Amino acid sequence: MQDNIIMPRHVGFIMDGNGRWAKKQGKPRNFGHIKGADKVEEVVKWCFESGIECVTLYAFSSENWGRPKEEVDKILELLVKFLKKHLKSLLKNQIRLVVSGDLSPLSEELRNAIYSAEEQSANFIGKTLNIALSYGGRQEIVNAVNGLIEKGEKVTVNSLSGELAKRGIPDIDLVVRTSGEQRVSNFYLWQIAYAELYFTNALWPDFTKEEFDKAIEWYTSRNRRFGKL
Ligand code: FPP
Repeated sequence: MQDNIIMPRHVGFIMDGNGRWAKKQGKPRNFGHIKGADKVEEVVKWCFESGIECVTLYAFSSENWGRPKEEVDKILELLVKFLKKHLKSLLKNQIRLVVSGDLSPLSEELRNAIYSAEEQSANFIGKTLNIALSYGGRQEIVNAVNGLIEKGEKVTVNSLSGELAKRGIPDIDLVVRTSGEQRVSNFYLWQIAYAELYFTNALWPDFTKEEFDKAIEWYTSRNRRFGKL
């Protein structure tokens, strides 16, 4: 890659296709999620190595609560494992961890693991890993509007943008969605207003470094005009 390219500052990943990947191997869906969690480790590393400042992963949507309990439990278990396994390395690499979403339905164990990891990494600047968990974009906007109303502030594009970014998560520059689906599925609806959208047929566990480089190169070739000429 050239030196003078403008990298995306914030990349969001809609990690889709774990279930289909497992089915193709004749394995249960949860096997796909395990492989998906392994892929998360790789992708986060590629992102920070290439200078991306903020990485958002759509790990579990508010709609995903409608899946069978066994599958939900397994995904949440993987998140606990992920935090346990990687906290040291996140801190060593000065990566700030943020978890976004409605954490109230989570187990106390997971909630405490999240709060503790967020607190320990809160002062790092420059690299942020944001995990969207029990997350829905519409609900986030509604919460932010209510936050402004409670503070007696007028709801404007600027005030709402500020409220949504108060945890230091900037607007998203590039969304990458795997598995061939071409929709945004309630993912950061406000913050993707001017994002470039990259869709690949690769299922999430099959997403390679070559695919990642291709997405970044495609992004850097886009002429982002933000509605201007
Ligand atoms: C979408 O694939 C994937 C999910 C709903 C869960 C994503 C979870 C992980 C990758 C593991 C844990 C995450 C972290 C951050 C460690 P799908 O199940 O909808 O696949 P399908 O569309 O093929 O059925």
